[in-house]
Amino acid sequence: DVVDVRTLGKHGYFTFDPGFLATGSCESAITYIDGEQGMLLHRGYPIGELATQADYLEVCYMLLHGEAPSEQEYQDFKSTITKHTMVHQGLHNFFNGFRRDAHPMAMLCAVTGALSSFYHDDLDIHDADQRLRSAYRLIAKIPTIAAMAYKFSIGQPFVYPRNDLGYAENFLNMMFSVPAEDYEISPAVAKAMDRIFILHADHEQNASTSTVRLAGSSGANPYACVAAGVASLWGPAHGGANEACLRMLAEIGSVENIPKYIEKAKDKNDPFRLMGFGHRVYKNMDPRATVMRESCHEVLKELNRDDPLLDVAMELERIALSDDYFVEKKLFPNVDFYSGIVLKAIGIPTNMFTVIFALSRTVGWVSHWHEMMSEQSQKIGRPRQLYTGHTEREFKPIKK
Ligand code: ACO
Repeated sequence: DVVDVRTLGKHGYFTFDPGFLATGSCESAITYIDGEQGMLLHRGYPIGELATQADYLEVCYMLLHGEAPSEQEYQDFKSTITKHTMVHQGLHNFFNGFRRDAHPMAMLCAVTGALSSFYHDDLDIHDADQRLRSAYRLIAKIPTIAAMAYKFSIGQPFVYPRNDLGYAENFLNMMFSVPAEDYEISPAVAKAMDRIFILHADHEQNASTSTVRLAGSSGANPYACVAAGVASLWGPAHGGANEACLRMLAEIGSVENIPKYIEKAKDKNDPFRLMGFGHRVYKNMDPRATVMRESCHEVLKELNRDDPLLDVAMELERIALSDDYFVEKKLFPNVDFYSGIVLKAIGIPTNMFTVIFALSRTVGWVSHWHEMMSEQSQKIGRPRQLYTGHTEREFKPIKK
């Protein structure tokens, strides 16, 4: 049931809902989630079908434009995105200001925000075509910036984007190619990467998307808004979970240690949580996790990787799914539980996991921003608060 409480504000009332457990902040036609059923639809299409039958750029097109593309629309879109993958040479200089050991999310956040200094003055956010151009630029340039952050952190030269490669292949090439050697992109790895991009493309009003909408609601520059989304995604309760999950699996180390960690997760005096378990909306299996789980097994088989962390992960999944605490609280493995294992198997370093989530989610952020800015009666987001401070009192200057 939805109560439209907007008129209450005019009478001095407001709802108090910290964490937005029961508050819808907008109308949206992009993504539908039924957390009880474990259902996720983008523009009406089930995520399982998209992940197995579409590629990431098709999903990007439908998220942004509302419909799946025709063959011609797809080719045009692909060529537009490809044309925008280069970044201004001046942007390279930003990296030299970072510490070598800076987290790549810190670099991604800063450099994405810096795009606003290259595309600001001529940008009319009330013009749909200009909004779409900003969206295309962001979808195209974020992989380039993400790979640059990685290359900078390992002291290798930046690799320029290649127009002859697909979206996922181009990203992998910019990450792993080195000047003196040919990097061969395995089709299985490229497919797994593309699937990870699809599964993270959008998820309605999560913390980072809501952040982008809130920032954008004041009419701010979209590149700066997306940088705000990157910041919000970084935390371990959101996009940082896949990185945290892999660190946790490494800390658990072996199957015998799992019961100890399960007990820690249940202990209310211990802040430890099983990373990669639970979701604010899904009280059933996250449908993205179902696809990612299959992908995880396929990739490990294909690459012939026998990873001991996978044994820990599978046993943890088995124990948690049959443990009363997790069953009663409906804590299922989420998509990040499996995506971390896949990313590790394809050679992505752990500190790049959240960056890849941000890269994939950029289309979701810009689609929501574009949708919000298209509304006739778009309003600045301005929550109220429940004040718990002092009542009015007299100020005493320091001298007195
Ligand atoms: N391990 C142990 N207990 C947990 C876990 C967990 N991973 N997640 C939730 N719980 C418990 C809580 O302690 C709480 O118990 P209580 O009712 O006895 O107090 C209950 O389950 C409900 O948890 P909340 O934190 O109130 O649920 P909320 O909806 O606010 O949080 C969240 C959801 C943040 C995802 C949480 O489950 C969590 O921290 N999970 C681990 C981090 C993670 O994997 N995040 C990725 C989310 S998916 C994504 O961003 C793509």
